Amino acid sequence: MKNNNLFSPSQLSYQHLFSRRNNVFLIKSSDNKTTPFIMKFYSEPNSMLKSNIEYKNLIKLNREGLNVPHVKKNKDHYNIIEYIPGVLVSDLAYRLNKGEWIKKLACWMFKLHSIKLNSKQKKNKKSYLKGDCNLRNFIYYENQIYGLDFEEKLFGDPRQDLSEICVFILDNKVDNPDKIFIALKFLKEYEKLSGQKINDLGHFLRKSIVNSQKRKNKYRKI
Ligand SMILES: Nc1ncnc2c1ncn2[C@@H]1O[C@H](COP(=O)(O)OP(=O)(O)O)[C@@H](O)[C@H]1O
Ligand SMILES: [Mg+2]
Repeated sequence: MKNNNLFSPSQLSYQHLFSRRNNVFLIKSSDNKTTPFIMKFYSEPNSMLKSNIEYKNLIKLNREGLNVPHVKKNKDHYNIIEYIPGVLVSDLAYRLNKGEWIKKLACWMFKLHSIKLNSKQKKNKKSYLKGDCNLRNFIYYENQIYGLDFEEKLFGDPRQDLSEICVFILDNKVDNPDKIFIALKFLKEYEKLSGQKINDLGHFLRKSIVNSQKRKNKYRKI
């Protein structure tokens, strides 16, 4: 992580946060007079469109009662967003942490998938989806999950999100019993909330594995 002074008189500093797509900065003031915040600059192509979609999605999800950061300002190519301190869910998964976050992540996903669609959206579409369920897009803070990164508006089958999460947790190591435990616990918690069994996940898992491999190859080339 880079750490540089931005404006020395006002004692603001920034950290360039890890991201494969956009440029995301955490801005802090050393005198603590300014609350830390996030500046997210969107990459081309279509940076204006992405900025706008994420802004609208964050407002919508906030209204629906989902834990997402508040968006403070929407500009053409960037957004200013509330900073959520806490731990990245990807780190919890990598450390094979088997705590409460698994249940909370299932709750967050179920709440998102339960958002009511209007009649136009309902046509051929099943649910509001997160999309890009990379676990670096979730933060665990004060026993709650917060979702990040909503540059796309997606609708479809909830099993798409669930399988992406499982593939991220398993990380191609399907013989690791701790990873299998975490992925199964996540699915069981989701089933408890929905009151329904998740059937035929295999097809979605295979698709998610192919997509995650494609993404890895793409970023390896850059
Ligand atoms: N509101 C926020 N609070 C805390 N950290 C954040 C916030 N937004 C982004 N981050 C951090 O920045 C990283 C990249 O942000 P993200 O919105 O996922 O951008 P990208 O679209 O490039 O993946 C996240 O993985 C997270 O570590
Ligand atoms: Mg992201």
